[in-house]
Amino acid sequence: MTFRQARYDEPFIKDLQSRTTFEMLSEDYDDSIVPATMRNASPNVPEIPEYDVVRHFTRLSQMNYSVDTGFYPLGSCTMKFNPKYADKIASMPLFSEIHPLRPEWSVQGTLQVMFELQEYLKEISDMDEVTLQPLAGAQGELTGVLVIRKYFELRGELSKRREIVVPDSAHGTNPASAAMGGFEVVEIPSNDEGLVDLDALRYAVTDRTAALMITNPNTLGIFDHNILEIAEIVHSKGALLYYDGANLNAILGITSPGLMGFDVVHFNLHKTFATPHGGGGPGAAPVAVRRNLADLIPGPIVRKGESGYYLDNRNSKLGKIASFYGSFGVLLRAWSYIKRNGSDDLKMNSYRAVLNANYLAKKISSDVRISHPGLKKHEVVASSEESGRRALDIAKFIIDAGMHAPTVYFPLIVKEALMIEPTETVTKKDMDDFANLIHEAVSLSPEELRALPVNTASGRLDDVKAAKELILKR
Ligand SMILES: Cc1ncc(COP(=O)(O)O)c(C=O)c1O
Repeated sequence: MTFRQARYDEPFIKDLQSRTTFEMLSEDYDDSIVPATMRNASPNVPEIPEYDVVRHFTRLSQMNYSVDTGFYPLGSCTMKFNPKYADKIASMPLFSEIHPLRPEWSVQGTLQVMFELQEYLKEISDMDEVTLQPLAGAQGELTGVLVIRKYFELRGELSKRREIVVPDSAHGTNPASAAMGGFEVVEIPSNDEGLVDLDALRYAVTDRTAALMITNPNTLGIFDHNILEIAEIVHSKGALLYYDGANLNAILGITSPGLMGFDVVHFNLHKTFATPHGGGGPGAAPVAVRRNLADLIPGPIVRKGESGYYLDNRNSKLGKIASFYGSFGVLLRAWSYIKRNGSDDLKMNSYRAVLNANYLAKKISSDVRISHPGLKKHEVVASSEESGRRALDIAKFIIDAGMHAPTVYFPLIVKEALMIEPTETVTKKDMDDFANLIHEAVSLSPEELRALPVNTASGRLDDVKAAKELILKR
């Protein structure tokens, strides 16, 4: 691969004072004709013509790497290709220019999209009620945790049920959401296979437990085949089971959170359904629940009545979690993706994602250790520890060669972790190129690796300084 990255010495936009000659001349205009009381001081904003703004952002985009320019193997972040028809539908003025306060009769098509998406998500998850409100995976988790909290509050058990159990392989947002929802977090270890340690679970789940939060397949890309036993352990103590659906891409149409015994689920639509995850948003994380929790999820929920679709703004016992109707653009992309694929292709996408992860695992296994034995689902975690090369340095090598790096140092239970999620939208050639880069990286000395990158627009950042001296504006 020959790597070329655009390099511009691009200033901050506030330093781009590039006024036109006409605007400069216009400063000399005599505006004394306007009474002083009607004259405003000029607002303090940069004076930049539209074409310079467009050129500024175009230049920045040319220095960038994206799913539209190449393979983006971030594990856990699911950066699969974002189909253009979904973007096109989301950009249609009929949808994008609707005012959120428009009367229901005038936005029946939009309500139909939301209604159908609710129905699709119920079918995919085998759950009974869905709210489309939450705006990101972490917010979906918080919503789910608050639903669980309300459930126990209404049963008069909240003072007793103070704990949420989380496996040590969990995504960091899980314990954070549990704590934000007012619970204590109890962490349990994984066993040698990367699965929940059942003895530790039996010990941890007591009548103080409100819920177990878990993702399956987990962040190691491993499907926990003990899930029905896990559900039984949790339910036998009167606690609930929360499904972090961020890894749903691996199981679409093959199994479901409902079949596995879960009570509350969030979906990361911005991972599985046509919006790539990384890059800071926007996201959408609808939450689905079983019938006994249906009154607790935030509205509005779209219903279909005799005279059309309407918003059920029922007084959810939880109140609202986001303004208006959630991230409608992301919901719309997910709806069009599900509709376009249909159940057979969604299932096939999951098979492809799993096949690709296992192909890649095999290809890199002679250069880096695959973290746990056995078949993987959608993603694979490798460790560069034994190769004597740091995961960070391997990542910099891959970036220097013109490909995006995988996620590094997550999950925390694997040392020098490289977490790779090829997804179904990757070619065999991309995966072979990636595996070759891993091979080349471990063939370089640690010192040679540390000198990289040299081909990129920015050199190696001082991570510690960046984390400790957060200066977000100049
Ligand atoms: C397993 C898992 N859970 C939860 C999340 C949180 O999702 P979000 O980043 O949208 O808040 C992620 C995000 O990568 C994830 O991978």
